Amino acid sequence: MSTNHERATAGARGRPDYIRIEGLSKHFGDGGGGVLALKDIDCGIEQGSFVTIVGPSGCGKSTLLRILAGLLDYDIGRVVLDGQPIRGTRRDVGVVFQSSILLPWRTILENVMLPAEVLGIPAKQARERAMQLLQMVRLEGFEHKLPRQLSGGMQQRASIARALLHDPKILLMDEPFGALDAMTRERMNLELQRIWMESGKTVVLITHSIPEAVFLGDRVFVMSPRPGTLERVLPVDLPRPRSMEVMSHPAFAAASASIRERFSHAASFD
Ligand SMILES: Nc1ncnc2c1ncn2[C@@H]1O[C@H](COP(=O)(O)OP(=O)(O)O)[C@@H](O)[C@H]1O
Ligand SMILES: [Mg+2]
Repeated sequence: MSTNHERATAGARGRPDYIRIEGLSKHFGDGGGGVLALKDIDCGIEQGSFVTIVGPSGCGKSTLLRILAGLLDYDIGRVVLDGQPIRGTRRDVGVVFQSSILLPWRTILENVMLPAEVLGIPAKQARERAMQLLQMVRLEGFEHKLPRQLSGGMQQRASIARALLHDPKILLMDEPFGALDAMTRERMNLELQRIWMESGKTVVLITHSIPEAVFLGDRVFVMSPRPGTLERVLPVDLPRPRSMEVMSHPAFAAASASIRERFSHAASFD
């Protein structure tokens, strides 16, 4: 089995894009009173790669992710996933939002198994898979606890397990660690990198943290203020697996500085 890193490199050598976005624009509302949220987005994402997205608040990051998740319609352009235009939600996509949205009255195991009911996965099979995933996110032993008995970081790991229950090929994450303290967040970054490398998923993650974007991404997509355009795609050429020490590497500092410089005049960076 090839590693994610090899796959990302293979992609760079010219494999077709797994996700392809062409001339995408998104407008909310009608005529003069509306908002142009995204404008002329063009990009490709290789299978098994890790893309992070940063940009000023309100520039359309969540809008872009919701379009990729099939949760939101778009007006102009084409969004193709594995050769098929995205229209509506799909089984090969898993989504994680900032707050873990676990049901408080269900145990962690029952929460992770939730998508099985919607997707019609047999309970026995879903349970086995959920237990494997809970092991992968290092929550074994917490299956029968309620969400409130777990820390924020643990709850978010449960959310990641839940998003992976139906074995989607793509994991979309919208500021998944935004509510966590700095130390927990660093640990979650390491965990997510490991999960990504073990699972072979394609990951697209939005963050307002420049270090997080550089640490996790094979490439960082930098968006402009609204209407959101894809201003820059920054490759991060640092070996995997990355440890926190990579943050003191000159290439890490250079990548972070070049993104930061981009936003030095933006009113609010989110
Ligand atoms: N459902 C909606 N209806 C109208 N405007 C929206 C809707 N969702 C987002 N917007 C607007 O689109 C712009 C981009 O929003 P969003 O994608 O949430 O930005 P970001 O995630 O980068 O902060 C914002 O101006 C926001 O107010
Ligand atoms: Mg957002």
